[in-house]
Amino acid sequence: MEEIISLKNVDYSYYGKIPALTNITLSINKGEMFSVIGLNGSGKSTLLHIINALIYPDSGIVQFDGNPVNEKTMSDKSFGVQFRQRMGYIFQNPDIQLFCPTVFDELLFGPLQVNLPLEIARERAEQTIKYLGIDYLRERPVYMLSGGEKKKVAIASILTMNPDVLLVDEPLSSLDPKTQTFFMELLLELNRAGKTIIFTTHQLDLIEHLQPRVVVLSDDHTIRKTGTASEILNDEELLISVNLIHEHVHKHGNEEHRHYHSHYVFHKH
Ligand SMILES: Nc1ncnc2c1ncn2[C@@H]1O[C@H](COP(=O)(O)OP(=O)(O)OP(=O)(O)O)[C@@H](O)[C@H]1O
Ligand SMILES: [Mg+2]
Repeated sequence: MEEIISLKNVDYSYYGKIPALTNITLSINKGEMFSVIGLNGSGKSTLLHIINALIYPDSGIVQFDGNPVNEKTMSDKSFGVQFRQRMGYIFQNPDIQLFCPTVFDELLFGPLQVNLPLEIARERAEQTIKYLGIDYLRERPVYMLSGGEKKKVAIASILTMNPDVLLVDEPLSSLDPKTQTFFMELLLELNRAGKTIIFTTHQLDLIEHLQPRVVVLSDDHTIRKTGTASEILNDEELLISVNLIHEHVHKHGNEEHRHYHSHYVFHKH
């Protein structure tokens, strides 16, 4: 398999004093479904920011398709534009991502930004807005949308770019159950079509459903383990140690029950 993204010994701390990633080494292949799991604050979003060159590591090396990604290479116009064209980022919080006057403008923005002709940009925006079922919102200003609607617009605005690599931070946050299912199926479909998909989550059911390769971050911002979905889901000890499942004690009448609680996978009585 051909590698598309690699990180070697990457460290990052905010303002030089709040550690967020420590000694991260990983390699992601073209066309892979890959996920980053860990508790709140373990460094998942920071890792996606690094992969997307929104921030640069304090030390260590990041590569995209065999080329180094750093301030210098990103300031090279042809590399920078190509990089942005090939990688799309759906943020955890859609508010940071949306800034155009209307929903339709938002969908046009990406394609125009990478110099696609207006006709093609419009065509893509039309297709995507219908595909995601948000055509009725097209003239709405984004501040007049619900959280879930904003998330859908954020997803749409990235899909119009037709990126090779899709970074998705907490794919299901603020979506209703029906839209969650739709979006999970969409991610599977995009992956089947050859896209590399990298997402973060602390929901183990998403790992079970999408069956990605998984990297587990621990509270100290290091990698605890990398493995297939089933290698990770079956490693109860690991999941307890990084607090992704916890022992849960409750009573049925006078009888005390203990079981591991992870919302889905290990919820056995
Ligand atoms: N803008 C920031 N300024 C300072 N510290 C930050 C900032 N963003 C994140 N951090 C810190 O960096 C660490 C990693 O945060 P990050 O947002 O990457 O975690 P996460 O795994 O995505 O968490 P969550 O599940 O809550 O989204 C945390 O300790 C966090 O407090
Ligand atoms: Mg996060």
